[in-house]
Amino acid sequence: MADIRNTSEHQQKVYERWAPIYDRVYKGLLRDGHRTLARMASEAGRDILEVGVGTGLVLPYYPTHCRVTGIDLSEHMIAKAREKVSREHLVQVQALQVMNAHALEFADRSFDAVSLPFVITLIPEPERALDECARVTRPGGEIVIASKLGDGRGIQGAIEEAVAPLVHRVGWSSAFRISRITEWAERRGDFEVTEIRGVFPNGFFKVMRLKHRLDG
Ligand SMILES: C[S@@+](CC[C@H](N)C(=O)[O-])C[C@H]1O[C@@H](n2cnc3c(N)ncnc32)[C@H](O)[C@@H]1O
Repeated sequence: MADIRNTSEHQQKVYERWAPIYDRVYKGLLRDGHRTLARMASEAGRDILEVGVGTGLVLPYYPTHCRVTGIDLSEHMIAKAREKVSREHLVQVQALQVMNAHALEFADRSFDAVSLPFVITLIPEPERALDECARVTRPGGEIVIASKLGDGRGIQGAIEEAVAPLVHRVGWSSAFRISRITEWAERRGDFEVTEIRGVFPNGFFKVMRLKHRLDG
């Protein structure tokens, strides 16, 4: 428990520093992943929960008929997202709340889709967070994840392992495996991976789609 608290505090400190400059650094780099994730999530239905909403870079990509709720651990990142919603009149955004992905304060089956843009690799207990996402997803709904997800193979896998402690200092992780998510889905049995798409740059980032099985 102490470890998790420390890591969450670490994340909050990291993103307090990132909040003022985050959009300038990441907007272009993550645009393709953000757009792809928003499109996939909105195909599952109108009610969308975005976990780790950050400064709200994905929010403009959800269609205006959607009802999007965003949560994030960092009040500084959420403050930036609130400014964006007001400045850009993002009518699809219903609420932005400070919350931990480990303990979502929503009723079971509240959303058609839960999206996790560039956050799953930072969460201390990703399986616990995914269980929470599954709990708040409606039957037949989807969980959509965008991140740097490796397959651990070859030189790329070795480099990812080697640089993991370094990138952790700036709040990123590069050693997270796709298999961690597929194994989570297999263990549960009620979600199946329906798509893994490589996006800009050159498939470096991945967008993964998991659908709730009505027969699961
Ligand atoms: C790399 S940023 C991504 C922000 C945004 N999703 C994007 O793609 O631009 C990661 C975000 O996840 C948030 N975060 C990290 N751990 C979290 C947790 N356990 N629960 C909720 N948010 C978390 C951070 O505060 C940060 O805003």
